[in-house]
Amino acid sequence: MTRRVCVIGWPVAHSRSPLIHNHWIAEYGVEDAEYVRLAVEPEGAGDKILNLASLGFIGANVTVPHKEVAFAALGRHDAVARRLKAVNTVVTLADGSLEGRNTDGYGFIANLKDRAPSWRADAGPAVILGAGGAARAIAAALEDEGAPEIRIVNRTAGRAEALIADLGLKSAKVFPLAQTAMALEGAGLLVNTTTLGMKGESEVSFDLSPLPKSALVTDIVYTPLETGLLRRAREAGHEVVDGLGMLLHQAVPGFEAWFGVRPEVTEELRQLVLADIAGK
Ligand code: ATR
Repeated sequence: MTRRVCVIGWPVAHSRSPLIHNHWIAEYGVEDAEYVRLAVEPEGAGDKILNLASLGFIGANVTVPHKEVAFAALGRHDAVARRLKAVNTVVTLADGSLEGRNTDGYGFIANLKDRAPSWRADAGPAVILGAGGAARAIAAALEDEGAPEIRIVNRTAGRAEALIADLGLKSAKVFPLAQTAMALEGAGLLVNTTTLGMKGESEVSFDLSPLPKSALVTDIVYTPLETGLLRRAREAGHEVVDGLGMLLHQAVPGFEAWFGVRPEVTEELRQLVLADIAGK
């Protein structure tokens, strides 16, 4: 029987998950496996996710805007999804029940370890720009990885306060945009989780000079691959890591759970996705 997995989103046409998973299916010679897009409108999304099996799927990725709905719909979760109250990966357990997981934070950390092997989470405070869903996954993962302090810089301070309270972050501070310079002082990592820097959006514009030169700078935006923030950081002498690897690495645990092979994030896969981006 074909093991079918889908990515659920609205819209979902832009999703590169099929490209990634079908590349691995071919590379590892996984037989009777298929990964497809499933456009699911917000109304009734929870029911669709609950009824994956009757739709013919053994698992799914869940993307915008359904990650929270997927969490609410499912009765079982791993610890990370429970903490984030958001699900990006659904697997069928041995007893046939569905479990919601969240691999976004894993993908973020795995990308840094892959591209900047000398980086250590405990090297200094981590500064996160933004307080949306991606910021939540990254903040929780950085705390788990040993970051001594998390500093959230966000336009809307209340959202950053809610993030810290909801995740129960132990050592975290909120900085309004006007105090970005203070947030950068002594930091070991700067990560942009906002949409700033994305093609067509304005760029992250604050001065990077208060950031120690030893700090790693990364962006979750990967179109363009080198955002204005990454370019400025590179020119100022910082080590930089682009955001494409987060997308690639977050897919690894799902593929392993569905198909029983732990896939590798290779340069070939990276080039495949880059070519797809360039072609759009
Ligand atoms: P996601 O869930 O994908 O992380 P999101 O929930 O839409 O995305 O969050 C987007 C983040 O980018 C937010 O932190 C948002 O700031 P606010 O909380 O103040 O809305 C931030 N953001 C988006 N556009 C921005 C802009 N022009 N200037 C500053 N911050 C911006």
